[in-house]
Amino acid sequence: MLKFAFLCALFLLFTTRTTSGSHNISSSETTCPANKRCKNGPNISYPFWFSQGSPPDQYCGYPELGLICYDNGNTIFAPPPGLNYYVKDIDYASHSLKLVDFDTANKTCPRALHKFPFGNLPLSHSPLNLNLSFYYNCSQYPSGVPSIKCLSSGLNESFVFLMGNETKGFDWLRNCQENVVVTVMKDQITADGGLVNQFAGAMDEGFVLEWQTTASCAQCEASNGVCGYSTTKKETVCFCNDGSTRSNKCQGEEGSSTGLSRLIIGLIIAGGIGALLICILLYSFRRKLKPIVSEIRQAKEIDKDIEAFIRNNGPLPIKRYSYSEIKKMTNCFGSKLGQGGYGQVYKGNLSNKSPVAVKVLNASKGNGEEFINEVVSISRTSHVNIVNLLGFCLEGKKKALVYDFMSNGSLEKFIRSNNLETDPPLSWKRLHHIAEGIAKGLEYLHRGCNTRILHFDIKPSNILLDKNFCPKISDFGMAKLCSNTQSIISMYGARGTVGYIAPEVWNRNFGGVSYKSDVYSYGMMILEMVGGRQNISIQASHSSETYFPHWIYKHVEVGSNVAWQEGMTKEENEICRKMIIAGLWCIQTVPSDRPPMSRVVEMLEGSIDQLQIPPKPFIFSPIKSEVDICSTSSCY
Ligand SMILES: *[C@@H]1O[C@H](CO)[C@@H](O)[C@H](O)[C@H]1NC(C)=O
Ligand SMILES: *[C@@H]1O[C@H](CO)[C@@H](O)[C@H](O)[C@H]1NC(C)=O
Ligand SMILES: *[C@@H]1O[C@H](CO)[C@@H](O)[C@H](O)[C@H]1NC(C)=O
Ligand SMILES: *[C@@H]1O[C@H](CO)[C@@H](O)[C@H](O)[C@H]1NC(C)=O
Ligand SMILES: *[C@@H]1O[C@H](CO)[C@@H](O)[C@H](O)[C@H]1NC(C)=O
Ligand SMILES: *[C@@H]1O[C@H](CO)[C@@H](O)[C@H](O)[C@H]1NC(C)=O
Ligand SMILES: *[C@@H]1O[C@H](CO)[C@@H](O)[C@H](O)[C@H]1NC(C)=O
Repeated sequence: MLKFAFLCALFLLFTTRTTSGSHNISSSETTCPANKRCKNGPNISYPFWFSQGSPPDQYCGYPELGLICYDNGNTIFAPPPGLNYYVKDIDYASHSLKLVDFDTANKTCPRALHKFPFGNLPLSHSPLNLNLSFYYNCSQYPSGVPSIKCLSSGLNESFVFLMGNETKGFDWLRNCQENVVVTVMKDQITADGGLVNQFAGAMDEGFVLEWQTTASCAQCEASNGVCGYSTTKKETVCFCNDGSTRSNKCQGEEGSSTGLSRLIIGLIIAGGIGALLICILLYSFRRKLKPIVSEIRQAKEIDKDIEAFIRNNGPLPIKRYSYSEIKKMTNCFGSKLGQGGYGQVYKGNLSNKSPVAVKVLNASKGNGEEFINEVVSISRTSHVNIVNLLGFCLEGKKKALVYDFMSNGSLEKFIRSNNLETDPPLSWKRLHHIAEGIAKGLEYLHRGCNTRILHFDIKPSNILLDKNFCPKISDFGMAKLCSNTQSIISMYGARGTVGYIAPEVWNRNFGGVSYKSDVYSYGMMILEMVGGRQNISIQASHSSETYFPHWIYKHVEVGSNVAWQEGMTKEENEICRKMIIAGLWCIQTVPSDRPPMSRVVEMLEGSIDQLQIPPKPFIFSPIKSEVDICSTSSCY
C-alpha cells in the first residue's frame, strides 16, 4: 500500500511537472531582479543583465549583453573576455550606452591596444562618435607633422589623425609598427585645439554605442514581450506581460493571451486533479488491475538485461556487491560520514575488517548500463592521488560505490577549521605536498588513456586525505553518474560552491568549457589553502569589497621578502609564494591563458626563480557560496 501511494505521488508529480513545464521555464526565470546595479554604475536592466548573480540573470537580457561589477564598484562590459570596457552610462530611452576602454582609462598618455570588438554583438556606432587613427612607433615620418611626445620611443614617433585625414602621400602603415582605430565623441575634439593635446581627454570620456533588437528578439519585442535567454533550453525566449514565457512572441493581443494562459493554468489544475482521481481509482481497484502492477514488475526485466550485459562484457575489474552485503558492510547504514547531492556516505567494514566508505547514490534516471560503463571506466583509473574504487552495487534502482576509507577526511575541514584542536592547520610542507598531489591526480585524469576525464567539481570537500595526509581526488566521474538532467549545463539552476567554478562554466561569453575549467577550480582551491592560513576564506571575501585573489595578488606584487605570516622560514615563504603564483596562473580569466596541469606540477616542483608573476586575474566568480552542482559537499 505504501509503495502504491508512493507510485501515485510520483505519477502526480510527473504529470503536473510535464504539463506546466512546456509553458513555464522556471519561477526564478520569470522574475528579473529590479534595479540591479554596481555601486557606482547605471541601473542594469533589459536588455542588459548582471552576469555575476548566482545563478546569473542571463535570462533577463540579450545573451551577449552580460555585465559585471569590478573592484571599485564600476560596471564592466567584456565582450570577449579580457577586452574590458567600463560602462559609464546606459540610456534606456535612446537605446545607447557609453563605454570607456579599460586599458586607456585614467591615463595621461593612453596607448590604445585594440579597437572595439564588435563581432556579432547587437551594437553599432552612434552618430555622436568620430574615429581617431593612431600610428605607433613610426621609424620614418614626414616632417612638420606634430607627434605624440609621450609615446615616442628612441627615434620612433607616434601620431594621431582624424581617420581618413592622414597626411597624404606617405605610407603610414608601412612605416609604423601598428595602427589602431579609436572611437571617441565628436564634441570632445575641437578644430583649433590640436589632436595631440586633446586625444587623451577624449578617450577618457569614452564613446557611445547603440543597441539594436536582434533578429531573434524582434518578434518578441514587436508583440510587447521582453526578450531573454533560457539557460536550460539554451535558446532565446520571450517573456510576456501576462507572466507567460514563449519561444518567440506573445500571441495575439493582450486580452486573448491572458485568456489563453488562464486556460493553460486551468488545464494544469484539471490535469492534477485528474491524475489524483486516477490514482484513487487505481488504488481502490488494485486487485482487479493486477496487470498494471505486473507492468511495474517489468522494470525487473531491465535488470535482467543488465545482468546479461555484465555477463557478456566479461569479468569486471572490481567486485560487485549485493544490496544486502552493502547493508551488512555498513551495519545497516549506522554510521554516516557525509551527505551530498549524489547521495549519502556511510562508514563500513569489509569482511576482512578493512574500513571502507560506501556512497549510496540517489536513484537517478540513467539506466544501469551507463552506470556499469562508468563504474568500469572509473575503476580502470589507478593513481596514488585518486581515491580507489573497490566495488559497486547495482540492484534495480539501488546503486552504491565502495571506496577505500580515508581516515583524515576531507581537506575542507583543515583549511576552514572550526576546531583547531581536532583539526590543527597543516604545515606549509604538508600543504605543498597536498597541492602537488592533487595537481598530479588531475593531470592523470586530464591526460586520460583514451578520453580525458574532466572532474568539474574540484574543491576542498572533494579532496580526501589518507592517514599520511596523501591527497586523493574523489567524486570524479560523478557528473556522469548523475542523470542527464543534472549535467553541467544545469549548473545554473543547481547548487554548488560557486567560488571554484570557472567563468566559462557559468557564462558562455567566456569561451568553451574544457579541462581548463578544472584548472581554474584547482587554482582557486590552492589559493584558498594559502589564504586559509590567514583565516580568509573565499566566501568571506565575497561579502566584503575585496576580491580574494586580488587581496592575495598584492602579496606577490610587493616582492619576495615579505613573509605571508610571521615567523615563517625562508623555505616556507618560498613554498607559499610558489603556491600563490601557480594558483594565480590557474585562475586566469581566459581559459587558454591557464597552464595545463603538467605545467602546474612543474611550477610547484621547480625553483621559485623561474616563476613569472601572472597578470592580475580580472573577473569575480558569482557571489553566493552555498550551491551544489549535482554533487558536492559530501565527503566521499
Ligand atoms: C535606477 O532605477 C531606480 C528605480 O527605477 C531609479 O529611482 C533610479 O534613479 C535609477 N538610477 C539610475 C542611476 O538611473
Ligand atoms: C577610471 O576611469 C573609469 C571610467 O572613467 C572610472 O569609472 C573609474 O572610477 C576610474 N578608476 C580610478 C581608479 O580612478
Ligand atoms: C569608425 O570606424 C568604424 C570601423 O572601425 C566604422 O564602422 C564607423 O562607421 C566609423 N565611424 C565614423 C564616424 O567614421
Ligand atoms: C615601440 O616599440 C618598442 C619596442 O618594440 C616598445 O617597447 C614600445 O612600447 C612601442 N611604443 C608604442 C607607443 O607602441
Ligand atoms: C585634416 O588635416 C589637415 C592638416 O593635415 C587639417 O588642416 C584639417 O583641419 C584636417 N581636417 C579636419 C576635418 O580636421
Ligand atoms: C621603432 O619602430 C620599429 C617598427 O616601426 C620597431 O621595430 C623598433 O623596435 C622601434 N624601435 C624602438 C627603439 O622602439
Ligand atoms: C510559472 O510558475 C510560477 C511558479 O510556479 C507561477 O507563479 C507562474 O504563474 C507560472 N506561469 C505560468 C505562465 O504558468
